[in-house]
Amino acid sequence: MISSIETVTPAFGPHALAAGVEHIPVTVYGSSSQASRAVAQEIAALIQLKHARGEHTVLGLATGSTPTSIYDELIRLHREEGLSFKNVITFNLDEYWPMSPEELQSYRRFMREHLFDHVDIDPKNVHIPDGTLPMEKVAGFCAEYERKMRDAGGIDYQILGIGRTGHVGFNEPGSPRDSRTRLITLDRVTRMDAASDFFGEWNVPRKAITMGVESILSARTVVLLAFGEHKAPVIRRAVEGEVSAAVAASYLQQHPSARIVLDTSAATELTRFKTPWLLGPLEMFGLKWDSKTTRTAATWLAMTVKKPLL
Ligand code: F6R
Repeated sequence: MISSIETVTPAFGPHALAAGVEHIPVTVYGSSSQASRAVAQEIAALIQLKHARGEHTVLGLATGSTPTSIYDELIRLHREEGLSFKNVITFNLDEYWPMSPEELQSYRRFMREHLFDHVDIDPKNVHIPDGTLPMEKVAGFCAEYERKMRDAGGIDYQILGIGRTGHVGFNEPGSPRDSRTRLITLDRVTRMDAASDFFGEWNVPRKAITMGVESILSARTVVLLAFGEHKAPVIRRAVEGEVSAAVAASYLQQHPSARIVLDTSAATELTRFKTPWLLGPLEMFGLKWDSKTTRTAATWLAMTVKKPLL
């Protein structure tokens, strides 16, 4: 059993919610590993709580670089602190189509290598969209995937990453709020971002099977993680922008218990970090008018009003 759940103190609380700028709770950690450990420990606590009640825990899982440290920590908790996955059921967000499970880029293979081969999960409790299906069987498979999620009691805890297009799962711009698991055409930006994994953009599949926006929003808890400066602009749009099909992650604003977990780099475009003086007294954010902040603010003002600094 896990003896204690470590509390990681976030570097900054979601102060800006009060200022009405951020439309979803955001927690910023000093590093991605701190953030990942906190989320992994939350998941572990949920698994243990539900296990003690004789219930399954249903997890919605993501692939990609973002969640790998969460999986590392879950494996450590399994090996060193007895966390069992016997009562865990999983549903993965997506898989490229077409894709064989043995290919290097297969999300099924990714999940085996990063989590499932290292914990005691029952393989029959693992669900991942099937990239090997012929086109005519995909729609039936997707309907069945949704049915299985419902029969499992719905997803308790959904982990998400975010793409530069704002996608969650592979819900690319234009994905409607009521979309369910389906075949989708990948955005050019997403294919470019995947190019190095496939040794060239031309090898990246044009389609994927993905859980829909509605499937994701049906989870009881949703936690989106983003690490690194390259995620900062889209995080600002998801958190501070209006809810729009142009950025699927912005739909999380409509979920009663969705949260966003960032490292400091992914948070840099949020108003409370970029131009906190617009929100109120700097002390609210643990800052003061030192020479660095004064210089940054003066430069920002000069650029905003397009007047040179004297
Ligand atoms: C993967 C998935 C995607 C990724 C997103 C970010 O299962 O659903 O939405 O989470 O593309 O990918 P990384 O984490 O590699 O930056």
